Amino acid sequence: MNNILHIDCSPRAESHSRQLSAAIVNKLLELAPGASISRRDFGAAPLPHAASDYATTLSSPATLAAPLKGSLDLSETLIQEVEAAGAIVIGTPMHNLTVPSVLKAWIDQILRAGRTFKSTPAGKVGMLRDRPVFIGIAAGGVFAGDRANQPDFLTPYLAAVLGSIGLKTLQFLPIQATAFLDGDNATPARMKALAAIDLRVLGNLAFPRALEGE
Ligand SMILES: Cc1cc2nc3c(=O)[nH]c(=O)nc-3n(C[C@H](O)[C@H](O)[C@H](O)COP(=O)(O)O)c2cc1C
Repeated sequence: MNNILHIDCSPRAESHSRQLSAAIVNKLLELAPGASISRRDFGAAPLPHAASDYATTLSSPATLAAPLKGSLDLSETLIQEVEAAGAIVIGTPMHNLTVPSVLKAWIDQILRAGRTFKSTPAGKVGMLRDRPVFIGIAAGGVFAGDRANQPDFLTPYLAAVLGSIGLKTLQFLPIQATAFLDGDNATPARMKALAAIDLRVLGNLAFPRALEGE
């Protein structure tokens, strides 16, 4: 296994989060030149919202044990993409203080009781092996740091949902105040966001083992 799952969520072709996620992938490829890339562009090709048959199958342990035919196919495909990845790179805008709905649609497919998490009295327990997830965020305003002027429901939300399936090694790399970036200062802002990346997390997780051809 030697794979990076690269996800983009912006509806815009010339987008800050797209350019940032591409730069993160390039950084990983410097370490793993032979890695293959699996691509999901939810900005260009959104997933459907959770459909009736999927929601019905997920509605109780009994229906999960006897799923409606075909109802879990998309979910299974998307979970297997996560399982095949040594590292995951997500480029996402902040939309109304949190993730855009196209990213939520993916989350609704990959969190599945009995498949990616166990329900316990103490809460969800992840069933997937951890692997690094690098999340490049573009926000028009400021949501982190001393100058934050809006709540952030994006990073704690992603930490909670991805953590609940076992993905706990997350790095958030934000470009903030994009509303005030023009062509001249967008590149330094992106480089600054990228510079915060900590590739040491790759040291004891799946990704370097992937380089050895496992
Ligand atoms: C529907 C929508 C909602 C948005 N909500 C927020 C928000 O809550 N906070 C913020 O800082 N920027 C918000 N923005 C601005 C985007 O985060 C900003 O334009 C960002 O650069 C978009 O990412 P992109 O460049 O990758 O497309 C919003 C933009 C849209 C289209």
